[in-house]
Amino acid sequence: MQIFTKKTELQDYLKKWFAGNTIGFVPTMGALHAGHLSLIEQSKKKCGVTVCSIFVNPIQFNDPADLAKYPRPIEHDIELLEKAGCDILYNPDVNDVYDGEPSIIQIDLGGLEKVFESKQRPGHFDGVVSVVKKLFDAVKPTDVFFGQKDYQQTLVVRKMIRYYNMPIKFYTCPILREADGLAMSSRNARLTAEEREQAINIYKALKEAALKQGLYTPTQVEEYMYTELQKNSFMEIEYASIVDPTDLKPIIDWQHSAVILVAVKVPSTRLIDNVLL
Ligand code: PAJ
Repeated sequence: MQIFTKKTELQDYLKKWFAGNTIGFVPTMGALHAGHLSLIEQSKKKCGVTVCSIFVNPIQFNDPADLAKYPRPIEHDIELLEKAGCDILYNPDVNDVYDGEPSIIQIDLGGLEKVFESKQRPGHFDGVVSVVKKLFDAVKPTDVFFGQKDYQQTLVVRKMIRYYNMPIKFYTCPILREADGLAMSSRNARLTAEEREQAINIYKALKEAALKQGLYTPTQVEEYMYTELQKNSFMEIEYASIVDPTDLKPIIDWQHSAVILVAVKVPSTRLIDNVLL
């Protein structure tokens, strides 16, 4: 695997060795797990060359403590990427990504900036849009691979691709889970044994709610989920909602497809998960 810290060197290398190839791109913040590696695998299946980026983007963290605590096991990440057969790692610093200090790009997100993750983490998606735009400009991918795990992020990035008319194919890849159903996340490592035990109930509640589709109204199923999640004594529910998967607006019946979105604090760590219906 080739490793670059400067985008100009990455671009020269791609031009020299992979001109005319499809370029698959998997942006990450590192602390890689099997979920990230599944995106690499998808990209390798579909594209001539696969680029992964590892960059902990300071401007998408609304909580400075969360940024400070974010794990950065770069040597281990490199090993995992080598094993996964990733061709190129772009591992820049802030200066290379932003050409100086980070600057915020704001685009019209059509309401996505007001709900769920946006509400809980003000400014988060402005930070995501800013960095993803810079990374796409640096890597110039033909295909990009994002996880359904961050469902709202997939909608935001798709919106950005359309906004700038970028000639990029977008793939949403399935959520990889631990054996007991907990969605894999770099944050799971922070859970205490007791929190880890409680965290199992997130996916359990999602699955049970999914089975109730059609039997009850979406609002009734949401109420059911709240009741189930509240049985876990120290779990704080931020949201547990059933919405339209295209714009995250509320739905009143099951006539169209739906997504169930959940965010909880357990309490040391914030966890999100979702299921598409
Ligand atoms: P990060 O949290 O590192 O996630 C990188 C990619 O891995 C995202 O597309 C995310 O949805 C995907 N992913 C995470 N857990 C997954 C799982 N269990 N199964 C499948 N895919 C999973 O998301 C970000 O970084 C950042 O916001 C980024 C897009 C890199 C911009 O900074």
